[in-house]
Amino acid sequence: MSIKSKQAVAHPNIALAKYWGKQSFGHNLPAVPSLSVTLAGMQTSTRVTFDTGLDKDELSLNGAPSGEVELGRVTNLLDRVRARAGFQDRARVESSNDFPTASGLASSASAFAALAVAACAAAELDASAEELSDLARKTSVSAARSLLGGFAELRAGREGDETLAAQQVAAPTHWDIAIVVAVTREGPKDVGSSDGMKHTMVTSPYSAAWVAAAPKMFELVRAGVLARDLTKLGPAVEQSALAMHAGAIAADPGIVYWTGATVEAILAVRKNRALGLEGYLTIDAGPHVKVLTRGSDAEAVAAAMEKVPGVLRTIIARPGLGARVVS
Ligand code: PMV
Repeated sequence: MSIKSKQAVAHPNIALAKYWGKQSFGHNLPAVPSLSVTLAGMQTSTRVTFDTGLDKDELSLNGAPSGEVELGRVTNLLDRVRARAGFQDRARVESSNDFPTASGLASSASAFAALAVAACAAAELDASAEELSDLARKTSVSAARSLLGGFAELRAGREGDETLAAQQVAAPTHWDIAIVVAVTREGPKDVGSSDGMKHTMVTSPYSAAWVAAAPKMFELVRAGVLARDLTKLGPAVEQSALAMHAGAIAADPGIVYWTGATVEAILAVRKNRALGLEGYLTIDAGPHVKVLTRGSDAEAVAAAMEKVPGVLRTIIARPGLGARVVS
């Protein structure tokens, strides 16, 4: 019997320029470029054990056996690793998050980034950061960005692409910013991001407008990150999120991820900004509002957001490292 085992950690990321929609020509390629910040303080920890004694892959999430859908996505990634390593051993995957999955912090990004790193290490593959990012991206697009620390970008897929990896734009120490998450609901979201974006692309009259407009927002966000200029990138961060949601809302039937508390929080971010507390909002496929602000303003922004009706609690997150092997 042969056993090969490695553990890796990865952090969630928040997109400042959003990815929403896949290219129609397959290979799980994004239709628009995106740019995110990888967050310290919260992590997914995943151990992969290839064991010749197993007759199928096994997955446990936070100590409990997973459902078939999650296991299918994990096997999808492991099959690519096995093909490259040239063996067929099944694996036991034990994954846990030290942050609540309902906090609105994309757990699939950190999950598939940690899985890619742990699986390649356990299979004794010598994979580059690009190869690991591409491997994660083939199962979860946003996971490609969690491979990198700090600020990471992923360009749109082009016809003919079979590989596509995220690239680091700047290290975590490049810019002292914070993301304040205003949690507006406990419990799982209604429509997952994969289903939501597919439905949007197929049925929303705004999807072509989104794909046409997103690159400009991405460029503004990228330039603002490189220049460490919050006032410059903030409006593009807000427009990227609101345009993404406008497309989803206009789908048939429309997908509304927001609750009343989401709207209250949006208005509060703008009111606080007018009063001199500079923050810009972004929203993923759920009702939580995330506020991008200067590191030195994070506590004040969190205190202000906690006063918003319907905001249950806040989490302050700062730029962190990329995915890595820990043992
Ligand atoms: O790659 P997924 O299925 O986790 O989709 C991510 C979608 C958003 O979080 C809404 C935007 C993004 O770029 O992370």
